[in-house]
Amino acid sequence: MPLIIGVPRETFSGETRVATVPEVVQKLKKQGYQVVVEAGAGALANIGDDGYREAGAEVLASAREVWSKADIIFKLRRPDADEINLLKDGGTLVSYIWPAQNPQLMEQLAAKKVTVLAMDSVPRISRAQKMDALSSQANIAGYRAVIEAANAFGRFFTGQITAAGKVPPAKVFVIGAGVAGLAAIGTAANLGAIVRANDTRKEVADQIVSMGGEFVPVNYEEDGAGTGGYAKVMSEGFQQAQRETFAQQAKEVDIIITTALIPGKPAPKLITADMVKSMKPGSVIVDLAAEQGGNCELTVPGEVAVAHGVTIVGYKDLPCRLAKTASTLYATNLFRLSEDLIKTKSVEPESDAGKAAIHLNMEDEVVRCTTVINQGEVTWPPPPPKLSAAPAAAPKAAVPAPAAHGHGPSTSVSSPTRVAVMFAVAAALFGLIGYGAPSDFLGHFTVFVLGCFIGYMVVWNVTPALHTPLMSVTNAISSIIVIGALIQVAPPLSADITRPEMLIKGMAAVAIALTAINMFGGFAVTRRMLEMFRKN
Ligand code: NAI
Repeated sequence: MPLIIGVPRETFSGETRVATVPEVVQKLKKQGYQVVVEAGAGALANIGDDGYREAGAEVLASAREVWSKADIIFKLRRPDADEINLLKDGGTLVSYIWPAQNPQLMEQLAAKKVTVLAMDSVPRISRAQKMDALSSQANIAGYRAVIEAANAFGRFFTGQITAAGKVPPAKVFVIGAGVAGLAAIGTAANLGAIVRANDTRKEVADQIVSMGGEFVPVNYEEDGAGTGGYAKVMSEGFQQAQRETFAQQAKEVDIIITTALIPGKPAPKLITADMVKSMKPGSVIVDLAAEQGGNCELTVPGEVAVAHGVTIVGYKDLPCRLAKTASTLYATNLFRLSEDLIKTKSVEPESDAGKAAIHLNMEDEVVRCTTVINQGEVTWPPPPPKLSAAPAAAPKAAVPAPAAHGHGPSTSVSSPTRVAVMFAVAAALFGLIGYGAPSDFLGHFTVFVLGCFIGYMVVWNVTPALHTPLMSVTNAISSIIVIGALIQVAPPLSADITRPEMLIKGMAAVAIALTAINMFGGFAVTRRMLEMFRKN
């Protein structure tokens, strides 16, 4: 029997998003899940019940039916008291949880012996980008912040010279160039504004420029990079220098978009009341940090305030204002996560209850970090992320996993018998090939098998954080094929060269040029990527 994913309507006031959309329902069904959706779940994102039905989901009338029928609940907002009551003992919940801020919620969920995967705890590593809901939603917030600014601002973003007169381009200053900040820079630059940006992490200067902005440095030597790619609290000296820089920018620019956050801390106050007062009348501030108290002293979280002629937008629900896109991206993040859960499924597709089972592979960094409660056991916080480029420590001896019961998640380790059977089958297969295949084929086959083995060993022994640079360096190394082209161009041209020879030489010359780009480009890109992992 397939596992059932349930998607209830979000009950949090002002929440317009929904945890799945019809396109994703189809993909989940292909993956082998059954999907049930509460009637009206997508209404505020302009997704009707019929859309879900056509995609193959069953639409149930009430939240109670969804929570009781589903094995896994997909949600956005953390569950409220009523929803916790509806959660089945031993079930699985996937939603935002914010475990550090909600210890009481964690206790209540653990008491229900459930398994909880927190979308806010997906590690920020390359491999997990496809399921990183914080990024997908922050990207939308950054885009929407510019749209809100444009709405409140009484001028064009782009400069214009027409017969009717000259309009200067708007000047936008973005503070904090994380995911939201970079999206805001790109959107404002595309609208034609002059964009400047600042971040305490120096490494983002290049990214600001690549999005069409100009990096505004602070005249103080200190780097703000903290652990896990996040920012740290800066020294008093830096903060003073930063205030001076921002005071200057406030006088010059028309729009300020602030996104500066430090995990687990209130938002740093970066725009003072005096800076707001110094801005031109009609200017706009959009404070994306409003939920954490705001980066501007005059922000009213959740509201639009006007102070000294400056409009200060403090909306806390920017992704909800693009509900359909936000829902689609979040649903895709969940789909990618469910793919990983299926990938780690046990040898037995059916548990003893005759139902397919999810098996959380707690050895997998992404699954480990995302799982905050495993069958009632609190597994948060996870061990520190393996961002270091150092080789991984030797694996511990495998411990046989306890047999899975019911359809609740559990960790799985392949059984020694299974491995032995696989080896025996492989040996028999190779024996047969060696006995029957022609000698020509055997030569190629040996190279192929050795290639697979070496490739496997190389990839497996590289820490996952370094897989992207590994791919680019492997791509560069593949340029070894240039040798073939060199051989083709090598013999000197004779007077009686034939047309086909000319053609071959011409093609070989083109191949050398293209391969050279691949080779030098590949190594250059790898070097840049590896530099991101170096501390100094
Ligand atoms: P965030 O929302 O925690 O912070 C926003 C930005 O504000 C950050 O760039 C931070 O450096 C900056 N900031 C903090 N205090 C500041 C101050 N006083 N003045 C100026 N700027 C300040 O950041 P977000 O968007 O969540 O990204 C955090 C990190 O995670 C980034 O390094 C990003 O590149 C990385 N990341 C990695 C991903 C992956 O590999 N899967 C995906 C998404 C993000």
